[in-house]
Amino acid sequence: MAIPQEVIEEIKYRNDIETTISQYVNLKRRGKNLVGLCPFHSEKTPSFTIYPENGSFYCFGCGVGGDVITFTGLIENLDYIESVKLLAEKSGVTLPQDGYDDSMQKLKNRIYDINRETAKFFHNHLLSDGGKWAREYLLGRGLTPKTIKQFGLGAAPDSWDSLIKHLKEKGYTISEMLTANVIGKSQRGTYYDRFRKRVMFPIINIRGNVVGFSGRAMPGEDKMGGKYVNTSDTPVYKKSENLFGINYAKNHCSDQIILVEGNMDVISLHQAGFCNAVAPLGTAFTSEQVNLIARYTKEIVLMLDADAAGQKAIRRASQLLENTGLNVRVVVIPDGKDPDEFIKNNGADRFKALLSGAVSDIEYKLLMAADGLLLDTDDGRLKYLSKAAQILSTTDDVMARDIYIGRLCEKYEVSRTALTSKVEEYRKQNKRTQRKKEINDVIRPKFTKDDINPERRKSLKGVSAEETLIAVLLQHPDFLDYAKENLPPDKMITNLNMRIYQTLLDINSQGRIPDISVFAQSYSSGEVGYLVSLQNSGKAGENAKIVLKDCIKVILEENTLLSFGKEENQNTEDWASKLQEIINKKSKGNG
Ligand code: CTP
Ligand code: MN
Repeated sequence: MAIPQEVIEEIKYRNDIETTISQYVNLKRRGKNLVGLCPFHSEKTPSFTIYPENGSFYCFGCGVGGDVITFTGLIENLDYIESVKLLAEKSGVTLPQDGYDDSMQKLKNRIYDINRETAKFFHNHLLSDGGKWAREYLLGRGLTPKTIKQFGLGAAPDSWDSLIKHLKEKGYTISEMLTANVIGKSQRGTYYDRFRKRVMFPIINIRGNVVGFSGRAMPGEDKMGGKYVNTSDTPVYKKSENLFGINYAKNHCSDQIILVEGNMDVISLHQAGFCNAVAPLGTAFTSEQVNLIARYTKEIVLMLDADAAGQKAIRRASQLLENTGLNVRVVVIPDGKDPDEFIKNNGADRFKALLSGAVSDIEYKLLMAADGLLLDTDDGRLKYLSKAAQILSTTDDVMARDIYIGRLCEKYEVSRTALTSKVEEYRKQNKRTQRKKEINDVIRPKFTKDDINPERRKSLKGVSAEETLIAVLLQHPDFLDYAKENLPPDKMITNLNMRIYQTLLDINSQGRIPDISVFAQSYSSGEVGYLVSLQNSGKAGENAKIVLKDCIKVILEENTLLSFGKEENQNTEDWASKLQEIINKKSKGNG
């Protein structure tokens, strides 16, 4: 156990789950529980449930769950120890200095150090004689020395091992370098610098730590590894959760944030005074990134390329942004240029004008809907108005609907009643599909139990008994002694449930009462969600003891059945290996 359980209890006591979560989510009371829109996935009706009774939460839509510490970790993007520290700080609990295992935190700190040292190494190389090519390239692209310094840009030398040598001298091990993903290992078992002859962009997280790198090849030299090579996920870096430029943008974006496609776009915009630009790093925009942004700003401007891929990205992003409460606007850059090129060719003032002309999400969709339709024919207009009605039906804002309906009626000469009733028709239809979808979501959560427990198909009956057993034990920890005597952990059918059961027995033998927080430290958030859903499932029922006995019986029976199958396999293998032995002997004898 990492941090002493008493300390965890104290922290949980002082950071009441209802109060903590209500700082992030609008909650409504439903019976003894509270519900709200899940902050971890996009939804229209609340499936995010809080159980104040036992201090847990669970989302029926996406399957995340846990306690106040897990919640803080997920929403603030922190690992377990970090969230405990944050909550401790907030509520004035002092954590014991020693006595808990912080090896993960130590490793992370080493990786942060390696990254900072590596960034320094690349930056110094850029400033040295050997980095002239990179300096010339960046200056040639219009960056000033001040910008180069601000973003800590660098140059990776044209060498296979200069970074390895440098980091070795500084006392870092090969294994640490591999974990930081700044070096790679060849098939022959040799190590090499991952970034060679590239202009280097350090990726800095919201707290100012260097968490990774993006390296751009020189024009014409991108045959090896592509135009950009990026750090893969490491213990300190998940690319789906980071945004390039967020470390600067977070202080300039209370009104608005601009989402662009690439690193160079971000840097050019910052240099031109638009310090609220960020970019995803070689991925499609993700819901984690949406959550990150939603905490800092009110409005997001999507400024993605005008090409087909860019359009697709805009559709995806605006879907993710639905229900976040963020104002979404879209700018299309003329002539298919990217923001970096636009600003270089036209200057900051023109860019500002472009930005102020950003259309609302709906206007943008209405504009795009006309694509490919012949609006001067009745047929084309009819098709367009039907598509437009569909678009308008997706907004819950009555005023917005009214304004756009008015504009469309005027422009396309249809009656207001006709268009309004078409929109209403679509709204009813949407509601029906939405309801269907949500019912489906509740019945079949996105993190299906199959994902959490991959062995489910071994024995549906057995696994169901295991789950009920766990539910009963979570609600009636006083039965743990009985369970221990009658069901040895190795009789459990699936590894996940065996692990959970073992943890329950361990906690019990230490004389403590099991609590979700005990699991939160060494189980994934999906697994903890699974536990919370079992805990609150009502599976235990009224006659918990009888249910428990039945479960044990079923598990033992199913286990016997399954191990019978195993023995048979074993025999087949034995038989096969004997046969092989005979064949070997024969061929030796002949040779
Ligand atoms: N990207 C990537 N890997 C690639 C290509 C692109 O990770 N092989 C990511 C980079 O983060 C890049 C962004 O996608 O910044 C956009 O790609 P692209 O438009 O091709 O690059 P630009 O940012 O325009 O780069 P440049 O202006 O230097 O050509
Ligand atoms: Mn570009």
